[in-house]
Amino acid sequence: MSVQQQEVDLRRTFAIISHPDAGKTTITEKVLLFGQALQKAGTVKGKKSGQHAKSDWMEMEKDRGISITTSVMQFPYNDCLVNLLDTPGHEDFSEDTYRTLTAVDSCLMVIDTAKGVEDRTIKLMEVTRLRDTPIITFMNKMDRDVRDPIEVMDEVEDILKIKCSPVTWPIGMGKEFKGVYNLLDDETILYQSGQGHTIQEKRVIKGLDNPELDQAIGHYADDLREELELVLGASHEFDLDEFLKGELTPVFFGTALGNFGVDHMLDGLTKWAPKPLPRTTDTRTVNAEEEKFSGFVFKIQANMDPKHRDRIAFMRICSGKYEKGMKMKQVRIGKDVKIADAVTFMAGDRSNVEQAYAGDIIGLHNHGSIQIGDTFTAGEMMKFSGIPNFAPEMFRRIRLRDPLKAKQLQKGLIQLSEEGAVQVFRPLNSNDMIVGAVGVLQFEVVVHRLKTEYNVDALYEPISVATARWVSCEDGKTLEQFQKKAYDNLALDGGDNLTYIAPTMVNLSLAQERYPDVEFHKTREH
Ligand code: G4P
Repeated sequence: MSVQQQEVDLRRTFAIISHPDAGKTTITEKVLLFGQALQKAGTVKGKKSGQHAKSDWMEMEKDRGISITTSVMQFPYNDCLVNLLDTPGHEDFSEDTYRTLTAVDSCLMVIDTAKGVEDRTIKLMEVTRLRDTPIITFMNKMDRDVRDPIEVMDEVEDILKIKCSPVTWPIGMGKEFKGVYNLLDDETILYQSGQGHTIQEKRVIKGLDNPELDQAIGHYADDLREELELVLGASHEFDLDEFLKGELTPVFFGTALGNFGVDHMLDGLTKWAPKPLPRTTDTRTVNAEEEKFSGFVFKIQANMDPKHRDRIAFMRICSGKYEKGMKMKQVRIGKDVKIADAVTFMAGDRSNVEQAYAGDIIGLHNHGSIQIGDTFTAGEMMKFSGIPNFAPEMFRRIRLRDPLKAKQLQKGLIQLSEEGAVQVFRPLNSNDMIVGAVGVLQFEVVVHRLKTEYNVDALYEPISVATARWVSCEDGKTLEQFQKKAYDNLALDGGDNLTYIAPTMVNLSLAQERYPDVEFHKTREH
């Protein structure tokens, strides 16, 4: 087997999708604890204690003056190399979150079992559907009084349209949480509270009918035996094929805070989640095992710190190997570039990593020439597909304080939209500029960057726009007619693509009914 093949087989690249507060940060901490990236699980983001984890990336962060701590984490687990890509979940929710999901091969969905399926999870699941990404589910917070697990599982099936296959099943909940029973291995793993910061010694009882189980958890043993019959009736058997197609999700229960169950989930991830998958381009499909290098940029991180103007372009490697100092072709501009100082993300390894393989993420220093969606290759002219723009969900009109700066504003906005920081729409019937985003923070970033990078002082005004859709139509005549009739609701985006701007969702459905031959797209490829 070639070295390339071996390296590819090792890798598992995933992201976490969840609603804010479901426990993503806590799980990340524990995942890293198991990855032995940290000796003792610290805090990934400074919380009550205000202290961050003392990790190697913190050193890197200090050295390089960029914020990479929560962007990409790589660590070894079960003979695999796991890459965890962070998806900003809170107020910093943005299109980056969506696009990061195009750079992974699987996702972990975290659900707060006390709450069930929540909004943000629904939206993020929609995005994973674009590529039928395999989903692993972790039902969190079992140390609290949660909802009936069967009911929550049904909710996942109904709302998210994915079959659930419980791998572990919880025993009790809240103060009475006793542990989980593993349906595939026929063993019970007992929970001990107060061990959240260490790797617990596993206390395992083999077999469901083992009297030791009754001794250990009393009447809960009989309750479990009874409940399992119900569970088996209400759920699906694990099927690797269906999982890989994104049709079925293995479900694990636990408490991230109590550090229980996260390792079971990681075992499942390393065993079942796909290694780096083939990726399609406009000319052919690229296999991860290929020797020749290729990759695409899915995210550009602007630095909010004015002392560090440079930005980092995050690239997913799709094939071949990155080596320090190598030459790559930036396909869009047809230029060869030498990459001497890519940022790599190997946790727990002090030596400077100078190689990265398919499935890994590297960060390129970007001084403005790299755009979201850019493909880099060993020379081949091809472009990776499936790195879309997503229809924004929030809109504001942007206005200048100094009207003489209109040109700079337009230039700045178009550049920022090419970079993927925000989307901009220019209505056909006015000189307005409408900024669209999926998260509020994007608006703030744009005003800040317009000021520091383009010397433009801008502010926002509310505007009644509910949603936007890119439009296309096979028949030129029909499109022309549509353009005339819907003129007041049409705009051009940063790349001059025709967009329908809907004041309300009702407007959109009416337009869709009235113009059945016109297609209204929720995403647009870069
Ligand atoms: P997020 O990144 O998805 O937003 O969630 P995060 O991990 O920050 O967790 C949100 C809150 O839920 C935190 O409490 C965290 O401690 C708590 N939490 C996470 N997992 C569990 C769990 O398994 N059981 C219980 N009982 N709580 C859990 P907080 O009060 O907001 O933060 P903190 O001040 O306690 O750190």
